[in-house]
Amino acid sequence: MLEKIEETATFLKSKGFTAPDAGIVLGTGLGGLVSKMNIIHEIDYSLIPNFPVSTVEGHEGKLIYGDFGNKKIVAMKGRFHFYEGYPIEQVVFPVRVLKYLGIKYLFLSNAAGGINPDFRVGDIMIISDHINFLPNPLIGPNNNMIGPRFTDMSEAYDRGIIAKAEEVSQELKIDIKKGIYLATTGPTFETPAEYKHFRLIGADAVGMSTVPEVIIARHMGIPCFAVSIISDLGVEGKIHYITHEMVTQAAAATESKMTSIMTRLIDKI
Ligand code: HPA
Repeated sequence: MLEKIEETATFLKSKGFTAPDAGIVLGTGLGGLVSKMNIIHEIDYSLIPNFPVSTVEGHEGKLIYGDFGNKKIVAMKGRFHFYEGYPIEQVVFPVRVLKYLGIKYLFLSNAAGGINPDFRVGDIMIISDHINFLPNPLIGPNNNMIGPRFTDMSEAYDRGIIAKAEEVSQELKIDIKKGIYLATTGPTFETPAEYKHFRLIGADAVGMSTVPEVIIARHMGIPCFAVSIISDLGVEGKIHYITHEMVTQAAAATESKMTSIMTRLIDKI
């Protein structure tokens, strides 16, 4: 495992992906943030040794390196999902590589179903904590060179960065929510009974990503910050037929607000 991570990191460094300050994982409909970057290098996932290849519509598979405000970042335009059929350790492999490229922070975004009745489609939710219903990517032998056997999750999402993000959204006069993200395997959206169940156990939003990547980042000691764009509602009386296209469109409609927050936030980190 470590050999593969180092092989991939060495390859990317040889392509100029050197000393990034932060990594960003861009979710469904949210790839446009890269238009705010001064792109220095980009490479298709299919050309990166040991990387899985993305198969989902709306998820372009590219690793992008460049300036974002006053920082050097590596952006994953498109991520890997467990429901695509990859083993969970493949889903998180790129995040391990980002650490070996040198990132100090990890930022993530996703589209999610809102189950807090106060939420509206198009809301942005800062993830304050999570509930994981996906397989844990740390199951299996542990390499102590990468991180500890038992990983603390008392502050999976960095409180300092969350406080800064709240300041930034106030400055920008963008209304922002905060809540708990529950990760499911998908690829089905939830039944009304499942949305209700997830609400009852304390979740504010539900989606099919992000949590495995955060677990892997925390294993390696990287502070994380993540946001969900609420693309549909799993709230009694507001549940209706949804498709992946509707999710993508709703996320894209909120993308510019999310990008403004991320831009200023990453500047301040
Ligand atoms: N459920 C699960 N995943 C999602 C949803 C949802 O309602 N919306 C976007 N991703």
